Amino acid sequence: MQLIKQTVLLTGATSGIGRHLAGKLHELGNQVIVCGRQPEPLAALATQYAGLATYVCDVSDPTHCAAFAHWATSTYPHLNVIINNAGVMQVLDLTQAVDLTKVTTEIATNLLAPIHLISLLASHLQQQPEAAILNITSGLAFTPLASVPVYSATKAALHAFTMCLRHQLRATAVKVFEIIPPAVETNLGHADHYDRSNDHPLSVAAFVEAMLQVIESDTYEVGIGAAEGLRQQREALFPLLNP
Ligand SMILES: NC(=O)c1ccc[n+]([C@@H]2O[C@H](COP(=O)([O-])OP(=O)(O)OC[C@H]3O[C@@H](n4cnc5c(N)ncnc54)[C@H](OP(=O)(O)O)[C@@H]3O)[C@@H](O)[C@H]2O)c1
Repeated sequence: MQLIKQTVLLTGATSGIGRHLAGKLHELGNQVIVCGRQPEPLAALATQYAGLATYVCDVSDPTHCAAFAHWATSTYPHLNVIINNAGVMQVLDLTQAVDLTKVTTEIATNLLAPIHLISLLASHLQQQPEAAILNITSGLAFTPLASVPVYSATKAALHAFTMCLRHQLRATAVKVFEIIPPAVETNLGHADHYDRSNDHPLSVAAFVEAMLQVIESDTYEVGIGAAEGLRQQREALFPLLNP
């Protein structure tokens, strides 16, 4: 599928992959609709890219998701692509009691929100001549990183969900992609002082370029860069990733 002249809803565009992707999609002539929790970076995006639509939304809150989906489809009835990109990653020490509120938010953001947005928009997408759902998972969905256990689990669950979704939509015009990033140079995990020193991250620009090529070639599930090894070899790589 070519992401040109489409109407694209993208979650989590205030930083990192989402921010760069929003600009790139806008430059390619798409109508881009983005959300995030922080109003200032959203306003900056709207100023930088004329016509780009923004909506302040905490996707971990189902009422926000429902309001966002309703606003997006009523304002942009040609909406035909959703990209579930918003995500958080927490470092968790499982030898101690964990903060269940933070864990709940991590699951709500990374897993429940994509499921909810897809269920809210599935009928709308099926009414479009061409449509797509893109879920951003992670190489860690296949080979978990022990220091971020709930994050790895949410991405594994989103992978399973995406396979089921693709199967259920196989007779429709809605294409279902799973984009599997490797380590990418963003702020993911910074709030928890996640140590990136051994990650060898890809630049955001290189990642977004590779991601757009994957979509254009209608490759529905593929790991980008080092993530393809994690996808194919799965738990066999666990000891290497977690020395
Ligand atoms: N960077 C990597 O190494 C890597 C590797 C594999 C997969 N990924 C995945 O790539 C995606 C993007 O992450 P990133 O690396 O670009 O991280 P990032 O720079 O931290 O960006 C995360 C984005 O998600 C948004 N977000 C977080 N919680 C949200 C919420 N409750 N409601 C709405 N928006 C929310 C943030 O916006 P606000 O703060 O404004 O809400 C921000 O725009 C995530 O799904 C992540 O799991 C990243």
